[in-house]
Amino acid sequence: MNSSSPEKPYAIACDRNREPILAVLRQCLPKRGRVLEIGSGTGQHAAYFSSVFPDLEWLPSDLQENLEGISLWRQEAGDNCLAPISLDLLSDNLKLPQADAIVCINTLHIVAWKGACQLFAAARDVLVPEQGIYLYGPYRYADRPLEPSNVQFDQWLKARDPASGIRNFEDLTQVAQDQGFVLDDDIPMPANNRSICFRRVAQQ
Ligand SMILES: C[S@@+](CC[C@H](N)C(=O)[O-])C[C@H]1O[C@@H](n2cnc3c(N)ncnc32)[C@H](O)[C@@H]1O
Repeated sequence: MNSSSPEKPYAIACDRNREPILAVLRQCLPKRGRVLEIGSGTGQHAAYFSSVFPDLEWLPSDLQENLEGISLWRQEAGDNCLAPISLDLLSDNLKLPQADAIVCINTLHIVAWKGACQLFAAARDVLVPEQGIYLYGPYRYADRPLEPSNVQFDQWLKARDPASGIRNFEDLTQVAQDQGFVLDDDIPMPANNRSICFRRVAQQ
């Protein structure tokens, strides 16, 4: 008899970055409501953040192939960690499910730039004024050189997939602004990452 159960996917980076990310999420997430996580990956963040925020519903999402792994982590989480949904930022006519906040960690440098543009366009249809998008990852700034560790990371990303790569902060804020979001915070994080918080504003 084979009694082994499937092993949960694991990324050490999630253990390392979850506390610094949590400190920022405590400031920018709503007290109640539903958080849509884009690019949930292993599912570790979904399991952890849903346990820390029992009054929030946490909705993980990723490409279909990752949902099984996320579901394994969900088995250890509370009821407020919802079943993961398939969500591809590059899909035509991207529509997001209802949410009161969106969290996207280490994903915009993986997906092609079109995915970042589609994220903000689709988020505009879901979030209402004062609700926000939280981004975490490495970013390039026009007024200073990219950190050496991120230069290497960017080269590695592009060698793997030329459509991926570290995004320009100014391009991102422009796309956000075009879709009715303003920059609320841009916070330095460990290992040359950033926490970037956008907030939906009422359109004139
Ligand atoms: C570097 S991983 C980050 C995962 C997780 N957020 C973390 O911090 O560990 C990037 C994630 O983006 C997801 N991804 C790649 N292309 C995507 C797309 N087109 N739409 C949505 N997610 C995508 C991958 O499946 C992967 O889970």
